[in-house]
Amino acid sequence: MRTNRLFTFPRLGLAVGVLATGLTLTSIVASPTSPKTPPPPLNEGATYIGETACISCHKAPNNQFSHTIHANVFRLNPKNEKEKLSCEACHGPGSKHRDDPDNRANRVSLVGFTKEWGTPIALQNQMCATCHQSGGQMFWEGSAHATHQLSCSDCHNPMVKNSATGLLKKQSINETCYTCHQQQRADFAKRSHMPIPEGKMSCADCHNPHGTTSKTLLKADTVNETCYSCHADKRGPFLWEHAPVRDNCLSCHNAHGSNHDKLLSTARPFLCQQCHAVANGHSAPLYNASQVLGAGGNPSTRVLSHSCQNCHSQIHGSNHPAGARFQR
Ligand code: HEC
Ligand code: HEC
Ligand code: HEC
Ligand code: HEC
Ligand code: HEC
Ligand code: HEC
Ligand code: HEC
Ligand code: HEC
Ligand code: HEC
Ligand code: HEC
Repeated sequence: MRTNRLFTFPRLGLAVGVLATGLTLTSIVASPTSPKTPPPPLNEGATYIGETACISCHKAPNNQFSHTIHANVFRLNPKNEKEKLSCEACHGPGSKHRDDPDNRANRVSLVGFTKEWGTPIALQNQMCATCHQSGGQMFWEGSAHATHQLSCSDCHNPMVKNSATGLLKKQSINETCYTCHQQQRADFAKRSHMPIPEGKMSCADCHNPHGTTSKTLLKADTVNETCYSCHADKRGPFLWEHAPVRDNCLSCHNAHGSNHDKLLSTARPFLCQQCHAVANGHSAPLYNASQVLGAGGNPSTRVLSHSCQNCHSQIHGSNHPAGARFQR
């Protein structure tokens, strides 16, 4: 295991680690400054000095750090040698940094997680990944966030207990996501929306920000499986299925929010007419644009209120023997 060696034999392990980092760097993380050059060797020749030495110069950060789960586990109940390294489990061996902390030209002497410090992102993430590469983080490599050069510390701040769980940068999951996803903040402010602003739900109920096997970081395999996890009544099977419901809930709904009723992507009857516009039965002749708009007369009563659903009420599917048209 490379990660074990990294900590047992710093020099050799780091050389191997940096080589591997170089490969991943060029393939998945296109560094803006030097896409082709591997990062400089990390902490070359540095040795571990123990947390007491770090704390002697960094009292305030340590006070805050002491309230976090890492501090508790690493200090009170370390499970292995890596965890016993405490500060240096994340920041790497610190002897060179201790000897010349103000040497800003020599940034390679310690792994820093702030933008100003300049440690390559792949290397930062690799420090966390030595302990967190399975479970929820299993699909990090190649995920939308990894390929867009996010570092773990864009969402996490392990130095401070900001959030009840998850060591997040902001107080809640949603606020953490909104720091970059302003458009989604706007979506959730629309008239009809998933109860995110009410605090009843978080982005992480549907997404795994660390990457998943499906697209758009969804936790379930498909959009529909995601929705069924809470709206089980829509799963069916129904005696009479409405094809677009099985196909994709987003044929009619927005996932986050909408200014139309019930998160619908378009107002009714246009919603239905997108697909039922051809002259099948009554729909096209009776519900053309002029009647809907009331040009030359009053709007048809059949387009008012629930519109098509005044009659076709069981739009997600019907179990009634005579429900082929979703009227019951
Ligand atoms: C002799 C005092 C001293 C010791 C010992 C020391 N540091 Fe520092 N550290 C500093 C100073 C001074 C700076 C600011 C350097 C700068 O801004 O150029 C600094 C900066 C840092 C940073 C800032 C990185 C960033 O993102 O801005 C980190 C992280 C850090 N130290 C961690 C550690 C760790 C971990 C240890 C123990 C292995 C340690 N330090 C030991 C003095 C020390
Ligand atoms: C679990 C990993 C981890 C451990 C353990 C850890 N740090 Fe940090 N540290 C980080 C990350 C990530 C950041 C960047 C935080 C941010 O985004 O501002 C950071 C930032 C810092 C900084 C610079 C920013 C600041 O808060 O002043 C210092 C100094 C620092 N750490 C020192 C320490 C010391 C001393 C210890 C041990 C007592 C320690 N760290 C333990 C991950 C860790
Ligand atoms: C030496 C191993 C180690 C390293 C390195 C490490 N962690 Fe952890 N981390 C742990 C352990 C142990 C826990 C306690 C929970 C557990 O057992 O999974 C934990 C818990 C967490 C949690 C969950 C907090 C909670 O409230 O449940 C987050 C988030 C986290 N780590 C992020 C990070 C990030 C980000 C980094 C890199 C900056 C990092 N860790 C580096 C070992 C590590
Ligand atoms: C885009 C934001 C984001 C990024 C980037 C991110 N995380 Fe997380 N992470 C979260 C959120 C949100 C949670 C859930 C927090 C909660 O449940 O309270 C979480 C939870 C965790 C947990 C605890 C629960 C679990 O899933 O095991 C660990 C450990 C963790 N993250 C590690 C990492 C590591 C390591 C990285 C970098 C490879 C990383 N995270 C990058 C947002 C992020
Ligand atoms: C530091 C900025 C940043 C933060 C914080 C952040 N993201 Fe992202 N996110 C991005 C970038 C960059 C992309 C890729 C470009 C895009 O789609 O906008 C992205 C893409 C996504 C995507 C689309 C993925 C795809 O395959 O199209 C989802 C879903 C997502 N983020 C969810 C989240 C969630 C949930 C959180 C909070 C836990 C979060 N993000 C926090 C920057 C961020
Ligand atoms: C109810 C489940 C659910 C919740 C909660 C949720 N999302 Fe999504 N999100 C989705 C679905 C479904 C998609 C679309 C997937 C597709 O089209 O393949 C999506 C798409 C996205 C995208 C890709 C661009 C877009 O808008 O289509 C981003 C970015 C995103 N979500 C961020 C977030 C953020 C940030 C939060 C929390 C503030 C959040 N999501 C909460 C289900 C959810
Ligand atoms: C984590 C659970 C969860 C998931 C996953 C989920 N929902 Fe919801 N949904 C809710 C909750 C809670 C409400 C609010 C119910 C209420 O207020 O009575 C809601 C409300 C709705 C509403 C009604 C909105 C309104 O204005 O009354 C629609 C439509 C909806 N969800 C569709 C979807 C779709 C489509 C998906 C998949 C992309 C989905 N939901 C995924 C929990 C979830
Ligand atoms: C053909 C368009 C269409 C598709 C596809 C569709 N819905 Fe709907 N959905 C509607 C309409 C229209 C309403 C409003 C019903 C009303 O006003 O009575 C609605 C209402 C809802 C509601 C809130 C009222 C209720 O019945 O509980 C939920 C939740 C919901 N849909 C979930 C889903 C889920 C989950 C899927 C995917 C499995 C889905 N919808 C697919 C058209 C659709
Ligand atoms: C994304 C396209 C799409 C949307 C939007 C849509 N439908 Fe459908 N609908 C279909 C398809 C495909 C069928 C199956 C047609 C078939 O089997 O010939 C169907 C079948 C039906 C049927 C049964 C007709 C038959 O021939 O069996 C009714 C009634 C119906 N839809 C009403 C509605 C109503 C009302 C709305 C709006 C709330 C709506 N549909 C929205 C695609 C759509
Ligand atoms: C006043 C009640 C009523 C309203 C409102 C209504 N329909 Fe119908 N619809 C019916 C009846 C009745 C049938 C025929 C049922 C049968 O033949 O079994 C039907 C049949 C259909 C069919 C199947 C046509 C076929 O060729 O078999 C579709 C598709 C359909 N409606 C779509 C719509 C759409 C789209 C709207 C809204 C624009 C709408 N309906 C509004 C009563 C209504």
